[in-house]
Amino acid sequence: MDDVIYLDHAATSAPKPERVAARIARYLQEEGLSAGRGSYRRAVAIGQEIEAGRKKLASLIHAESADRVVFTTSGTEALNLALGCLWKEPGHVIVTSWEHNSVLRPLAAAADRGVTITEVEPRADGRIAPDDIRAAITPETKLICCVHASNVTGVIQPVHEICELANERGILSLIDAAQTVGHLPIDVQEMGCSLLAAPCHKGLLAPLGTGFLYMQPGLEDRIPPLQFGGTGTQSEQAVQPAELPYRYESGSRNVPGLIGLAASLEAMSRESIAGDANHQRELMSFCLERLGEIPGITVYLPELPEEQRVGVLSLNVDGQDPRVVGTILDEYFQIEVRTGFHCAPQAHRWLGTAELGGTVRVSFGSTSTREQVEKLAEALQQIAASF
Ligand SMILES: Cc1ncc(COP(=O)(O)O)c(C=O)c1O
Repeated sequence: MDDVIYLDHAATSAPKPERVAARIARYLQEEGLSAGRGSYRRAVAIGQEIEAGRKKLASLIHAESADRVVFTTSGTEALNLALGCLWKEPGHVIVTSWEHNSVLRPLAAAADRGVTITEVEPRADGRIAPDDIRAAITPETKLICCVHASNVTGVIQPVHEICELANERGILSLIDAAQTVGHLPIDVQEMGCSLLAAPCHKGLLAPLGTGFLYMQPGLEDRIPPLQFGGTGTQSEQAVQPAELPYRYESGSRNVPGLIGLAASLEAMSRESIAGDANHQRELMSFCLERLGEIPGITVYLPELPEEQRVGVLSLNVDGQDPRVVGTILDEYFQIEVRTGFHCAPQAHRWLGTAELGGTVRVSFGSTSTREQVEKLAEALQQIAASF
């Protein structure tokens, strides 16, 4: 595994930190208990560990309190839960061309519930202009969905301005922070978002099967649970408890995932996240510089200022199917990247890469290095020259 270069951190961070793996291994070998159910001491202790993780996550994103952070099994589940704000009050929704299918598909499936959609395209630099969102608002607009950073190009969107606009108009805002949580410092109160959804298995370095939804106070009356059932609280009642986070957390929890998350968060702070952001920026600048020297490579949106992108970029070797390039990178150079549409079809329509079969996506994580970028550039140089 040492020779493999993993550059698909936008899908999930890998490998997970040693402290995360060690805690989960100990849990599986020695504990294996459910949390939030039994009153014996070991079960209580596991429950407390998970709650400590929730508290830490809430403080990292500056949520009003820990109960505003609802654990889910993925970013997709968190987004689906958030979109429940439309079920009681269906109406018009504004999305951007950068949205992921985990937003687009639930909205498409809700067309027969009276949900209509307007897609706002980015300007030439890949950024959504708040004025274009403003122009798309109608009296029926209930929600604005905006990805914080694109999982195709890494472009960071002006979410603070977009949330401010939504708040001025009394419209809810849903921010998809899949590519930014753990990579950029996030303050939900300063951002002013109503809802912020993210996986925990990417920038927060937790295992797959973890995600969360931040919900602004007061929204719970407008958002139904995705599932109903046992929460380990108010068990004498036959109706779902009203209080957060348990209202939205029915059934036995993903304990290995959540204690893995707690172990990961122990080593994270707003400062360490700011450090990761710098690391990603440096790697991205170096990568763009190296790729810019190679004839026959198209990088999408290379001119953006460093501070307006996370460590994700899309490229193509001119005239080549991105899947072929991905296979060659894997089989001949042991470099793992993602190819295709990255679950963001509108992004490729806008980039003009839909007819090309999408792009080759390279994405960095906290363990990525300049040497890896150098090897990627050398490999792409050889591939481009050989065609
Ligand atoms: C922008 C974006 N939104 C949502 C998701 C969905 O997250 P998950 O894979 O945890 O369901 C992803 C993951 O690829 C993503 O990149």
